[in-house]
Amino acid sequence: MASYKAVAGTQDILPDEQPYWRFVEQTVAEVMRLYGFQRIETPTFEETPVFQRSVGEGTDIVEKEMYSFEDRGGEHLTLRPEGTAGVVRAYLEHGLFMKPQPVKLYYLRLPMFRYERQQRGRYREHRQFGCEALGETDPAVDAEMIAVLMQVYQRLGLSGIDLRLNSVGDRVCRPRYVQALLDYYRPLYDDLDQDCKLRFNKNPLRLLDCKQPQDQPKIAGAPKILDYLCEACAAHFAEVRRLLEAEDIAYVIDPLLVRGLDYYTRTAFEAVPQAGASRRQSAVGGGGRYDGLAELLGGRSTPGIGFGAGMERIIEFMQEQQIQPPSESGPVAYVAYVGAEAKAEAVRLTAELRQAGVAALLSLGDRTLKAQMRQANGSGAHYALLIGEGELERGEVTVRDLEAPETDEGRKQFSIKRDAVLAFVHPGAAG
Ligand code: HAM
Repeated sequence: MASYKAVAGTQDILPDEQPYWRFVEQTVAEVMRLYGFQRIETPTFEETPVFQRSVGEGTDIVEKEMYSFEDRGGEHLTLRPEGTAGVVRAYLEHGLFMKPQPVKLYYLRLPMFRYERQQRGRYREHRQFGCEALGETDPAVDAEMIAVLMQVYQRLGLSGIDLRLNSVGDRVCRPRYVQALLDYYRPLYDDLDQDCKLRFNKNPLRLLDCKQPQDQPKIAGAPKILDYLCEACAAHFAEVRRLLEAEDIAYVIDPLLVRGLDYYTRTAFEAVPQAGASRRQSAVGGGGRYDGLAELLGGRSTPGIGFGAGMERIIEFMQEQQIQPPSESGPVAYVAYVGAEAKAEAVRLTAELRQAGVAALLSLGDRTLKAQMRQANGSGAHYALLIGEGELERGEVTVRDLEAPETDEGRKQFSIKRDAVLAFVHPGAAG
């Protein structure tokens, strides 16, 4: 008989982990409310060109990582590898450009699929929250976008995260920079490994992201994009910085920061745990401006900026920093019984409690009283409510207060009338 496991690079999120996820979700939703972002959900798959055209032909995502397939109707589809393309497609499709601009959207816990090489922190299915603001070039939107992301980390209690910031120029100035980069790398070409040679030919900006140790001195000596920005891009970048400073948001200028997706223009940023703060320095969030993306998707020219943040990585980072999510309330009552007649009464009582909004567990499996008490103690319930033959005859329920001290037998266990149970366990709910 076969025994199955979750596919490599995917994970089950078991009940013990859910408090972290809930905490992150609640925190994100609260920050979004404060900043005025509205939630959007897009489909898990799109027509393949939506991602191909957005993310770009020469990128790792499009070349090696997309889960693409032909469905039974012969359509070419791809499981969402990132959130931005679908949101921009939806903005154009539903005419959101008719609304007051910018349209500020966020998504939460959307699964993303990338065929990544196996590594801790790199999953084939991961979940992101992210924001997209469409229809406005004002650098204040860039600063606000960065502020939102940092605000989420701060409210989660995370520290030791560097915000790296760069400008990657636009279609006016970037070609000049790419030319300079190619001129610089041409004499070094034979010395490049296969992967970098490919980047030289297909996507030169990505040369700055080559990972081999022997590439690093070449990268360090390469021309810097910040020296090539046109006047408009330089002014935009200066204003983003000024506004971040006005808000006291610390950042590190990283002229080598080029993102793994092709749609970026001007502002690019990444949030990366500092070496001392985490064992891994993989980004817990990243984004930037993408003023040309809507046109690439066949829509009207629309500026945009956003970020995406990996929720698994954030939760792993919280666990490394020993951040506990707030504890969640357990059941109020655990209803135990002895005997078949008492069982029917226990079922009735449990239903009554739930009906009144009191979280209650019914003992299952006709266990011995001792075993039921063990389960009651492990359940996190405040009270065990016991019904046996004697209780049935007397019209009572025996209450065991699981939170009272063992030594105080009077407070620990006592009887109350059956019709007083609801008012007892939840004084506000009765009547
Ligand atoms: P990205 O940098 O590819 O950008 O991904 C955003 C974040 O998702 C990363 O910083 C990381 O935290 C997480 N992440 C990415 N890949 C994985 C993976 N394989 N396993 C675990 N976590 C991962 C984007 O996706 C852009 N759509 C962000 C954006 C929005 N730019 C503008 N708007």
